[in-house]
Amino acid sequence: MSELALSPFREGLAREVVPPPCTVVIFGATGDLAHRKLAPALYTLKHEGMLPARFAIVGYARSSFTDAAFASDLKTSVSEHARAPMDPGAWDDFAQGIRYVTGEFGDAEGFARLKATLDTIDRERGTGGNRLFYFATPPSFYPVLFQNLAGAGLLNEEQGGFARVIVEKPFGRDLASAKALNAEALKVARERQIFRIDHYLGKETVQNILVFRFGNAIFEPLWNHKYVDHVQITVGEAIGVEGRGKFYEEAGALRDIVQNHLMQLLALTAMEPPVSFAADAVRDEKVKVLRAMPVFTPREVGERVVRGQYGPGSVGGEDVDGYRAEIGVAPDSGTETFVAIKFEIDNWRWAGVPFYVRAGKRLPKRVTEIAVQFRGVPHAIFGGPGQAPGDPNVLALRIQPEEGISLKFGAKVPGARLSIEPVKMDFLYGSSFGAEPPEAYERLLLDAMLGDSTLFIRRDEVEAAWGLVSAIHGAWADAPPPPFPNYEAGTWGPEAASALLDRDGREWRRP
Ligand code: BG6
Repeated sequence: MSELALSPFREGLAREVVPPPCTVVIFGATGDLAHRKLAPALYTLKHEGMLPARFAIVGYARSSFTDAAFASDLKTSVSEHARAPMDPGAWDDFAQGIRYVTGEFGDAEGFARLKATLDTIDRERGTGGNRLFYFATPPSFYPVLFQNLAGAGLLNEEQGGFARVIVEKPFGRDLASAKALNAEALKVARERQIFRIDHYLGKETVQNILVFRFGNAIFEPLWNHKYVDHVQITVGEAIGVEGRGKFYEEAGALRDIVQNHLMQLLALTAMEPPVSFAADAVRDEKVKVLRAMPVFTPREVGERVVRGQYGPGSVGGEDVDGYRAEIGVAPDSGTETFVAIKFEIDNWRWAGVPFYVRAGKRLPKRVTEIAVQFRGVPHAIFGGPGQAPGDPNVLALRIQPEEGISLKFGAKVPGARLSIEPVKMDFLYGSSFGAEPPEAYERLLLDAMLGDSTLFIRRDEVEAAWGLVSAIHGAWADAPPPPFPNYEAGTWGPEAASALLDRDGREWRRP
């Protein structure tokens, strides 16, 4: 067996061919995303031999930079944030293809200069007219970016090269704006040219949800209302808003996490087996789940959705301010930093099985997990005094950190008495594979260069998710928020979140 075949992570990477020659254009090139995620991901791909030899990066933004100054700034970010070490040889080769164009996002002249630069790169570096545009600007610029790209003829694929656009989240801020942006984009590009990103889909553990479910025969027969009592999905963060108060005031946890990351985790957990691993086959099944989830009435929002905002408290032994004291946040802010929702999926597989989801900032720890809690035994034969009937079986997919999967079941405690204790079978990525998984952005950039949109969100999917979320926003707009702050930083959210499960005779896990 070759060394490659022994390492599943490497096998995963080796699955693809190296993408064709191309240029990646980053709009908003001087921003945080470009520096912390995109340039480091591209450099790591280069370092691992995953980029084509004929490759270039063009930064486009308002501040004025020379090519060399831009490259040197990227080098600093790459040294700090890339998974791969800074290797002078690989960097020099990479840096040869770095260019910068100064321009306003709404300025057609800037796009004419961009086009001229891209044409020159094609001639000098043999990038074949293939272009991948990345929208890493504030979202209000997305419509004008589409218009100006089209105006400069840069979305035209008729010359033979590809023209693809990755649109960073958030894709719209409600159902109406998401539809409007889709309409705007689809006036000038085809759906297959548009790659709506959700970086959670690039995480190894998230991709593994499908492998776990559909690459193994033993779990799927249990994966339905007959055996599953309920599902809990948690996206918890210990951090606060990290200086992004102004952004977060406009977003809140529902827009920032639930509409995208959380709905994607839910859809992957609940979807039917796709007929193949082709992009549309997978996305067809995800969108069916979202469509099977009833859009809440205002009354249901009151009953099923809990919102919270953190006050001062202590996280990891450190005293932290409340949300309202963060920079850029109104002292009487009504923005939620925590949401818990009881969803239902009205289909054959999941009838009557609640999906409880929660997302929050300043929770006790960073943890994202999907926990499937199974029903109890149909007839309890162990139940005398001192013989606990056993905790329910729980399968927990740990998305991050401590990436892995554990299955909890009851075992007899050794000894003369019959007593049952829960124990765990544990799989840990780190110890099984001994390799560091790629960063989500590495995988997603690579897939976009290859034209594979399996791990990107389709138009109908983004609209279905917004439909569910916008109904909640609509009801909230008409009802005053609960008295905020209503949870202390470093706790698992407001009382009402516990009450949501308590009412059903269930409780949240303490991961
Ligand atoms: C982003 C949100 O999409 O995801 C942030 O805007 C959040 O608020 C982040 O912190 C979490 O991503 P990760 O990969 O660290 O779980």
